[in-house]
Amino acid sequence: MNRRKFLQNTALSGLGLTVGTSALAKTVSESNPNTEINKENYPLVIATWNVPNAVSKAWQTLQSGKSALDAIEKGCNVEEEDPNNSSVGYGGLPDRDGRVTLDACIMDEKGNYGSVVFLQNIVNAISVARKVMEETPHVLMAGDGAEQFAVSQGFKRQNLLTEKSKQAWQEWLKKSEYKPVINIENHDTIGMLAMDKDGTLSGGCTTSGLAYKMHGRVGDSPIIGSGLFVDNEVGAATATGVGEEVLKTVGSFLIVELMRQGKSPQQACEEAVDRIMKKQPDRRDFQVAYIAVNKKGEIGSYSIHEGFSYTIYQNGEMKNIKPGFWFDGK
Ligand code: GLY
Repeated sequence: MNRRKFLQNTALSGLGLTVGTSALAKTVSESNPNTEINKENYPLVIATWNVPNAVSKAWQTLQSGKSALDAIEKGCNVEEEDPNNSSVGYGGLPDRDGRVTLDACIMDEKGNYGSVVFLQNIVNAISVARKVMEETPHVLMAGDGAEQFAVSQGFKRQNLLTEKSKQAWQEWLKKSEYKPVINIENHDTIGMLAMDKDGTLSGGCTTSGLAYKMHGRVGDSPIIGSGLFVDNEVGAATATGVGEEVLKTVGSFLIVELMRQGKSPQQACEEAVDRIMKKQPDRRDFQVAYIAVNKKGEIGSYSIHEGFSYTIYQNGEMKNIKPGFWFDGK
């Protein structure tokens, strides 16, 4: 008898309840379609936004026999190193003081987690997050300490503010009006989920956060359960958009827990967006979007506004897909 069944038996007998053996044999997770295996759907990579280069890199990494965790790191590195991506890594838009500050996290199939917040001068924030997970007794490191740790691990310091993002910031300074921009340049945080050929799951999330945020602001992306959550028994979810709203509802953990209760990835993403919008149904000035996958390799996605898309590589084919959205017809 495995540990879970043993605990379940013990708890029931403690309550004086008797249940037939066949009912007991069916544990919660065994009776949940989200936890079933479907090898035809593996491997797969899915990421927020139209990021074919990042998703291809992750896919190739899986094809070369590397782990889902390696695929996540290598895929996210592509966007972090791209100076034309204005919301991740090098070339990310700065805060209102002109400083580029990065947040990132990574989570593996064993539930291990590593994260960096308010990291400056290092391009590959997700790789530093992985080092935090694998090389320290901690899960989350911030600011100068995270930067010093990165340098001690061999990462090079580099100015992340490109001429293009500096000019955009100087233009913004003329009015200095902070407003979240929906679907900023049709691009935002990269959240990525990957399953290897056996269905083993990992996930990651990397961002320079909201453009022109207050200095010191941290979003959802590096916070376990908000920007990302992976549970290799059930599935995984990740978020993009205005992190404050994701944080208030612990969106990615919520989606995984809803899948644990039997909701499909699509139903779970829709409910997570509903939780945000229920309290402010008329507020139209911000975007949040989720992507999710269950253990079977089924996908879900939903956003508040039109304009979000996700990229998926599955069954040897890559696609960019626009999911449904909350304000459709409202
Ligand atoms: N979702 C990214 C952020 O709010 O920082």
